[in-house]
Amino acid sequence: MSLSPRVMLTPDVTATRLGFGCGGLMRLGSRSARERLLACAFESGIAHFDVARMYGLGQAEAELGRFVRARRSEVTIATKFGIEPRRSVSSLARLQGPVRTVLARWPALRGAVKRRGDALDAPRQYDARTARRSLEASLAQVGTEYFDILFVHGARHSDDVRVAELCEFAEEAKREGKIRSWGVSSEDTSGASLVNAFGREAVLQTRYDIFSSLGPAAGDGRPLILFGILASALSYLTGCIAADQRASKRFAELCEARATSLADYLLLDALYARENAVVLVSTTQPARVTRAAEVARTMNRTYLDEFRAALKDTRVLSL
Ligand SMILES: NC(=O)c1ccc[n+]([C@@H]2O[C@H](COP(=O)([O-])OP(=O)(O)OC[C@H]3O[C@@H](n4cnc5c(N)ncnc54)[C@H](OP(=O)(O)O)[C@@H]3O)[C@@H](O)[C@H]2O)c1
Repeated sequence: MSLSPRVMLTPDVTATRLGFGCGGLMRLGSRSARERLLACAFESGIAHFDVARMYGLGQAEAELGRFVRARRSEVTIATKFGIEPRRSVSSLARLQGPVRTVLARWPALRGAVKRRGDALDAPRQYDARTARRSLEASLAQVGTEYFDILFVHGARHSDDVRVAELCEFAEEAKREGKIRSWGVSSEDTSGASLVNAFGREAVLQTRYDIFSSLGPAAGDGRPLILFGILASALSYLTGCIAADQRASKRFAELCEARATSLADYLLLDALYARENAVVLVSTTQPARVTRAAEVARTMNRTYLDEFRAALKDTRVLSL
């Protein structure tokens, strides 16, 4: 059975099965390279874009906006509120290309910067006033009249989330035509419990890969978007396979016979994890976007079954 190219997430939002995550967009150093990447996604049939106030230190929304302005009715856009680009670093936004290059070369320095950032991460407040202010800023940055989805971004158990006033805010923003739907985008189980409080039509955007499983909040017809399907699973899988000669041979043969890669299979797994979910891909390389679209179009469950059988036979993963 082949995959449907679009899914109806909510009565008001139908999106392409593959979405493009703009979390790493500003890692590309030039505007023309970023535009080429977005164009490559769109031309490959990916017409859902995921962004956030904080991506690219506050610059990614405007960058996406420049690209989608001429094709707004042909795409769906999700943005998020609740995590603002830190004031101290947003002033460095224009320098982020060189700064990221330096951090990429010195992992120890990158770790220290991240640890310092985490330590400063005080409990956050998610209330109607913050949500409204952030939504208006996002609308202005992207240069659009509406978002298809507005997410509560990364709320943790320790944060102060004003559920009742946020529900009221979302209904009002919908009536004003500023959002078409809303939901929760989260790394962990806090998102799952929150989305239930927001009602049946709230969209859950959650981390998933072949080594994890989707919790109960992702079931029962819940509109679902999956992210984080690749990077950490790929490095773990590659390590496991490399450590075992029999597994190395088996996966090399499989990938050669099928002209595929491990990354293809991880994407395929996510696409079949829930057939009515949108799956986000995120890369800085146009060829990888094109390939992801090709995987979604041409590979089917038979490929996935073969891959899972190889994982089981070689005991890389007990499924
Ligand atoms: N809490 C939240 O709401 C939240 C959190 C995290 C992410 N997100 C969203 O989800 C998106 C994806 O998340 P993610 O970046 O964590 O996860 P991901 O898709 O698992 O990983 C992306 C990374 O994988 C690499 N990659 C892509 N295609 C590849 C391929 N074919 N082979 C090898 N490596 C490949 C990319 O590097 P290259 O650039 O070198 O290709 C990139 O660094 C983000 O952009 C963002 O939109 C949301």
